[in-house]
Amino acid sequence: MRRLSIVVMIFAVMTVSCSRERMRSKEAAISSEVAELLAKMTLEEKVGQMTQVTLEVVAGGDDKGYLKLDAKKLRQAVIEHNVGSILNCGGQARTPENWHEIISQIQDLATKQTRLGIPVIYGIDSIHGVNYATGATIFPQNFAVAATGNVELMEEIGEIVALETKACGIPWNFNPVLGLGRQPLWPRFYETFGEDAYLASQMGAAYVRGQQGDDISQPRKVAACMKHYLGYSFPLSGKDRTPAWIPDRQLRELFLKPFASAVDAGVATAMVNSSEINGAAVHASRYLLTDLLRGELGFEGFVVSDWADIENLYTREMVAKDRRQAVKMAVMAGIDMSMVPYDYSFYDTLIKLVKDGEVPMGTIDRAVARILKVKFDLGLFENAYPQKDLLKDFAASESENLNLQCAREAITLLKNEGGILPLRKDKKVLVTGPCADKLSVMNGGWTITWQGDKEELYPAEKHTILEAVREKLGRANAAYVRGVDFDKEIDISAAVAAAGGADAIIACIGEPTYCETPGNIDDLTMSGPQLRLIEELAETGKPIVLVLVEGRPRIIRTIVEKASAVVMAYLPGMEGGRAAADILFGEANPSGKLPFTYPRETGALVCYDHKTSDEKSAKFNPQWRFGDGLSYTSFAYSDLKLDKEKMGMEETLTVTVKVANTGKTAGKEIVQLFVSDLVATVTPTVKSLKRFTKVSLGPNESRTVIFKLSAEDLAFIGLDNKPVVEPGKFKIAVGKLTKVFEVK
Ligand code: BGC
Repeated sequence: MRRLSIVVMIFAVMTVSCSRERMRSKEAAISSEVAELLAKMTLEEKVGQMTQVTLEVVAGGDDKGYLKLDAKKLRQAVIEHNVGSILNCGGQARTPENWHEIISQIQDLATKQTRLGIPVIYGIDSIHGVNYATGATIFPQNFAVAATGNVELMEEIGEIVALETKACGIPWNFNPVLGLGRQPLWPRFYETFGEDAYLASQMGAAYVRGQQGDDISQPRKVAACMKHYLGYSFPLSGKDRTPAWIPDRQLRELFLKPFASAVDAGVATAMVNSSEINGAAVHASRYLLTDLLRGELGFEGFVVSDWADIENLYTREMVAKDRRQAVKMAVMAGIDMSMVPYDYSFYDTLIKLVKDGEVPMGTIDRAVARILKVKFDLGLFENAYPQKDLLKDFAASESENLNLQCAREAITLLKNEGGILPLRKDKKVLVTGPCADKLSVMNGGWTITWQGDKEELYPAEKHTILEAVREKLGRANAAYVRGVDFDKEIDISAAVAAAGGADAIIACIGEPTYCETPGNIDDLTMSGPQLRLIEELAETGKPIVLVLVEGRPRIIRTIVEKASAVVMAYLPGMEGGRAAADILFGEANPSGKLPFTYPRETGALVCYDHKTSDEKSAKFNPQWRFGDGLSYTSFAYSDLKLDKEKMGMEETLTVTVKVANTGKTAGKEIVQLFVSDLVATVTPTVKSLKRFTKVSLGPNESRTVIFKLSAEDLAFIGLDNKPVVEPGKFKIAVGKLTKVFEVK
């Protein structure tokens, strides 16, 4: 037996080293192919590779959602301007067949009719599934996936999104979003993995692994794009694309970490923050785009601008006097590809700049080499065409099941007074609120269209919350009155009257769909009509279950006390209705935990990993805390043990804790380990998440969870802006248990 396992081990080691060897020689072959090709290219061909235009530029007519390309415009792009990349969907989701036709026509020209036959790299925003392909598996938005605390699930989702994107013939996905959700007003909050740097790093890296595997030339893989590097998610005003002020120390302590982790996971490309940090327009910052990203993080892929953001350097950011200066600044700072996206102005300008000797050919060559490398890595030179056979796994039923599982694991139970949930199926309910009977609001932006608001384009077979509840209770037992819209009252009195005949009220409130700048708001408070609906329903004395369907935590302080239960559904995706109903009626046990702090007041937007003064001088008293989330069963933590009381800088600390399901229902628990540095030269945060895992336990079952920490996990960014581990005492907390240890 022992001999057999040694043989197996030797075989495994040999296989790994063979495949490493293969990868190394493939890398070497690709870099010589890139060099050879580059040597043949004219300036125009090179700058064309750096140019990305949107699909509208080459589109002809749109017949009921079926998009035809315009042959002349396509020639203008691919042949006359040597365009290396095209993006986006031209307004709405397309059928996979339409995608095949679009991609094939583009590649026909690029690979057969250009001088060097360089394929186009098509890019798309598959933000929570291939949201621009009809019938695709559309998952919960990123912040909801973060709530699952399930890294393996995230990786599997990454795999499915990659497969379905590739099945459409598209090899490049502009996701994951790795900004931290620490500014809840920001309309892209839901695209993040929440406020914590470690959680976002784990989820982001898992997504990259799922998308790319270890070889992006594989049929089911795509190149991922980490975005938006760096600091985009933290605008001081909360408005999209407005200034962020982030000291270098905090930048490195928090915002840089998920990007560093994606680079370690081998992410192929990066997209840039449209806005500015500390007055530096990121598209013009050589420090951020080259010194930090490449020099320090070691990123080797290519960098694409965001939408029109080189233009924005002279029209919005005002750091350049004209287009010529803007293009020069961006390219010299480290932008390899410009998402122009509507014309050839970047192309014409950059060619002139090189001819006038203002941008060195070496800079162009470096950028083009990086782009070509990703094209070779993707295998586009061998086959740039859609692989039709992948469609057999497009929107497979297993993917739908995983989607349902994800939504169920994300949904977070925040309040459950007197154990009112789960509701009994033999009772009558009133379902109400503007989120009860719409698929769009459960999906949010980046769904079928950019703003996600075209309810009529949503798949009829998917269930709204109301439909899913009715499926369980029967139509007669689930009355429905919308009551209000987001911004106006409709029939609150009818809702109140209907409540009379119900045993409980399921009130689905939240936000309309939005995406990017159109989602800016001036007030985080839940809209007035929705608050009034709940206040008036509360007068009936019937128990209210609030279901929150929202892309950011809207303030609901005034109605929380009036509700018996609060269920955070986030933006749970296409299976959100079924998942919510499963949770409400106990067919699934909630296991999500909030990946952000839910504020109680509009003026108290402080994250969980704040400083001691945030508690002593101010009072940190959010509505719900990072990591909050109840279950229908109960979990008990015991036996927190550290394998040593004193830890050397080179040593590993092993932490064990026993977690038991002490209730009557099977359930999953996200076990989170927090560390507090008790005294440090930079004011320490009260605690920060260092490890987590999700365990599944039957009634009366228990498990010992093991975490390992190294000194690196205890590092912080010191006064000199460099990571440091200081000797001294640290506290570990898991559940309510704590232990102190010392670093020597
Ligand atoms: C967004 C990006 C997106 C790009 C292409 C921009 O407006 O900021 O996140 O990838 O459009 O659609």
